[in-house]
Amino acid sequence: MKNNKNSGSVSWESPSNIALIKYWGKKGNQLPCNPSISMSLKNSLTRTKLTYKPNGKEPLSFLFEGKKQSSFEQRITKFIKNLSDHFKFLTDYQLSISSENTFPHSTGIASSASAMSSLALCLCSMEEEIAGVKMVEDEFYRKASFIARLGSGSASRSVYGGFAAWGESNSFSKSSDEYAVPFSKYTHPVFQDFQDAILLVSSKKKEVSSSAGHQLMENHPYATARFAQANKHFERMLGVLRSGDLEDFIEIMENEALSLHGLMMNSTPSFTLLKPNTLELIERIRSFRLGSNVPVGFTLDAGPNIHLLYPKSEKERVVPFIDSELSQFLENGKYIVDEKGEGPQKIKM
Ligand code: PMV
Repeated sequence: MKNNKNSGSVSWESPSNIALIKYWGKKGNQLPCNPSISMSLKNSLTRTKLTYKPNGKEPLSFLFEGKKQSSFEQRITKFIKNLSDHFKFLTDYQLSISSENTFPHSTGIASSASAMSSLALCLCSMEEEIAGVKMVEDEFYRKASFIARLGSGSASRSVYGGFAAWGESNSFSKSSDEYAVPFSKYTHPVFQDFQDAILLVSSKKKEVSSSAGHQLMENHPYATARFAQANKHFERMLGVLRSGDLEDFIEIMENEALSLHGLMMNSTPSFTLLKPNTLELIERIRSFRLGSNVPVGFTLDAGPNIHLLYPKSEKERVVPFIDSELSQFLENGKYIVDEKGEGPQKIKM
């Protein structure tokens, strides 16, 4: 980088991710109670643009899909205010932020991971431009992951393509509670072009926000057992991602999804986010797998929609199965075709 800048714009596009091992329960300042691992998506992205200029009197402005959104604006203003220890320059600049999603509104796809990771990446690029110094690539992404985590835990994993792990574990020496690390270079080729069909059972807003959800784990009667289970699943999942054993992959992934919902169901207060159609779909997916031997499995976020994961080589058998057997249980028959993505992209300004 040749010279430092005083004003400018930076822009990043960053993906949503789907957790295979779930982060559910946090401690301290956005630290996870257990390690998690996720797959970053390709088509479900947030594009964020950050414009900065030396301090004027105006507060931060935020536009989502071209419109003012006070609730997001408040959340982002608070997030940025708390970052002054990590970006000393921030108090000297006035920021305008705009963002848009490539996935349709209200489809139940978690957008905080893509939104917060793209914003964190923009802030790191702004830091580089102001200093006029380019960071070492690994350090750049580590800082972006750390910052994204402060906005939304799962966002820490979205700064990497492929698979990313977040949360300390004895089974992965590079792991940390503070930031996520990429896991892709260790994965078996069978995961190379993994598909994710997002089956939309309901696009209604979540009944439980994830921050309220994490809080449910604070006095949960099964918390200790859950964190032990997640640690074991994490270790097994790392092994499976290396070995390519799809049977074990599916077993662990589905168990994680149902454990997450089990924990929500027996929390106080209790939440049942699965809908009758979610259960119908689960039964049909399992019996299709049993009957056909196609390695296809499901996972769930904190909502009723199903992520159906399978290797691309099975697409010709899975897509007709979705269309003929599953789509009748989906809202307007709709599903989103996604797959493993390569991670965030800086957009040239
Ligand atoms: O990042 P948060 O605070 O929105 O929490 C995400 C929680 C889950 O999506 C349910 C699981 C996960 O690890 O992504």
